[in-house]
Amino acid sequence: MKFNTKSIHAGKVHDKQTGSHATPIYQTSTFIFENAEQGARRFAGEEEGYIYTRLGNPNMSEVEKKMAALDGGEAGMVTASAMAAISTTLYSQLQAGDHIIASDTLYGCTFSFISNLLPRAGVEVTFVKAADPENIKKAMKPNTKIVYVETPANPTMTIIDIQAAAEIAHAGGAKLVVDNTFVTPYLQRPLEWGADFVVYSATKYLGGHGDLLAGFVIGPKAEIDRMKVPFLKDIGGIISPFDAWLLNRGLKTLGVRMDRHCENTMKVAEYLEAHPLIEKVNYPGLPSFPQYELAKKQMDNFGGMLSFELKGGVEAGRVLMNSVKLIALAVSLGCVDSLIQHPASMTHSPVPREERLKAGITDGLVRLSVGIEDVEDIIADLDQGLNEVKKVVK
Ligand SMILES: Cc1ncc(COP(=O)(O)O)c(C=O)c1O
Repeated sequence: MKFNTKSIHAGKVHDKQTGSHATPIYQTSTFIFENAEQGARRFAGEEEGYIYTRLGNPNMSEVEKKMAALDGGEAGMVTASAMAAISTTLYSQLQAGDHIIASDTLYGCTFSFISNLLPRAGVEVTFVKAADPENIKKAMKPNTKIVYVETPANPTMTIIDIQAAAEIAHAGGAKLVVDNTFVTPYLQRPLEWGADFVVYSATKYLGGHGDLLAGFVIGPKAEIDRMKVPFLKDIGGIISPFDAWLLNRGLKTLGVRMDRHCENTMKVAEYLEAHPLIEKVNYPGLPSFPQYELAKKQMDNFGGMLSFELKGGVEAGRVLMNSVKLIALAVSLGCVDSLIQHPASMTHSPVPREERLKAGITDGLVRLSVGIEDVEDIIADLDQGLNEVKKVVK
């Protein structure tokens, strides 16, 4: 099966009791055993079957099989949010005395988890500018177990060479984790470039409609099984059956939505780049983007996210964000609606200012998640917003 067919059919639940075509929502905490012996066999792992929703549920299994198929991985684990997926993945892979190398441009709470919570568990942390693979190589130590990157990175769109990072990690006996939230498996499949695990905020493009929170990790079955039991079982970041059901519905249209996000974003990026009030646009699909060639190599298209700097800095950005009418002023990204936000004071506020600036997240940077509305309407809204900026910024 090809991508769009898999996104509709992979993992499908056939409800034999009623013949329901759409998967029912298994909104239950627990599952009845036929007898005590069966319950004991299921707990002992001698018989397949559901026990209790914290250990698995048909709505969870459906999206896990679907995402593993879309990413070309052996197995998947769905969680209540990406932070549940990321923390469970890293806790399962690291213990006191181990070392992690992480890219310095990461989503704010991922940065916070790695820089604050992992050291409390005795894990040594080094942040590097991972866009240059040499920096990863230089930071490798005998106890390095994980290299962690996000590509394209939130919010600068910095691209990390996945193949180079995987080769360096593997040469030192470490594993590579890639956060693929920004482009999804429709546009980039990190496992094909050598990554060991792919993580997602499924809250974003995978769900696609801004109405749920969810996370994923995809990787080898034995590792995913170990993440589920004991790590997720005991940490408890479980998605609700209803949210898993919504996520499955969103996944069915991932490909068509991503095509439209890419098409719209290219046009918005070109509009912004040509606008006299715009200093700089970060979009991997623009030939002016410094890593355009690398983006073309490892991605099938350039996605729906961009960020930009206005002439007039923070104040100009504030006026623009307060002037847009169609585009919502909100964090999150990757839904059908366009969203605009200010990383320094919002999504990346957990990152100390000095670290933020080093990572290229300047005070004036504005992030735009381009939706799938008619692009003329998105551009018209930006245009009227920039006209307001013109009135106040000299
Ligand atoms: C790249 C990236 N990873 C992880 C997350 C965290 O996602 P969640 O809110 O689903 O935990 C986000 C949220 O914006 C993100 O942009």
